Amino acid sequence: MNTLRLLQSLVVIHLTGLTLMAGTSAVSFLAFKKLSNSLDEDQAAVKYYFKKLLGLSGLLPLGAILLISSGVGLLLITHTYGQLWFQLKMGVVVALISNGFLFGARQEVKIKQILDAPESQIHLQLRQPLVRLRIFYAIQLTLFLLAIILTVTKPG
Ligand code: HEM
Repeated sequence: MNTLRLLQSLVVIHLTGLTLMAGTSAVSFLAFKKLSNSLDEDQAAVKYYFKKLLGLSGLLPLGAILLISSGVGLLLITHTYGQLWFQLKMGVVVALISNGFLFGARQEVKIKQILDAPESQIHLQLRQPLVRLRIFYAIQLTLFLLAIILTVTKPG
């Protein structure tokens, strides 16, 4: 395989990883927003749909593996380490990962605990972690967009 073919294959893998991650985040953002508006409805149904939605985040590690491994491959071919846009992009990637582990994952754990508890007033308890989860997904989507803009425009 020549270098051009390898580069093209890595870009395809990179964009597949990106689509999985950003796509899952966009769907989760909208779905949690819609579900938050129907919290007062049938509690059993609300619990069921929340559990299904939380399962979606299982796609994120697969997307991350594809995105990061192909990104490292692209880096080895293009030698862009020292360029400003790349360093800024890595800052955005660190912010994405930190936001995921420090903010998003905590809200998911809280929501799971509330859903598993035998309480009946779950809609009241779910409000705060749900608002935070929507803020989390909005931040993630903004960061994905920022990383794309940095890569395409390559400032510096
Ligand atoms: C939020 C995460 C990321 C997003 C949204 C993203 C997005 C993109 C996009 C849209 C391209 C353009 C492909 C093209 O021009 O054909 C690209 C290329 C590239 N990405 Fe990423 N990427 C991300 C993470 C990473 C990571 C973690 C690395 C390195 C470890 C990386 C390294 C690269 C390199 C070296 C290129 C080739 C740039 C060039 O044209 O010279 N990316 N990325």
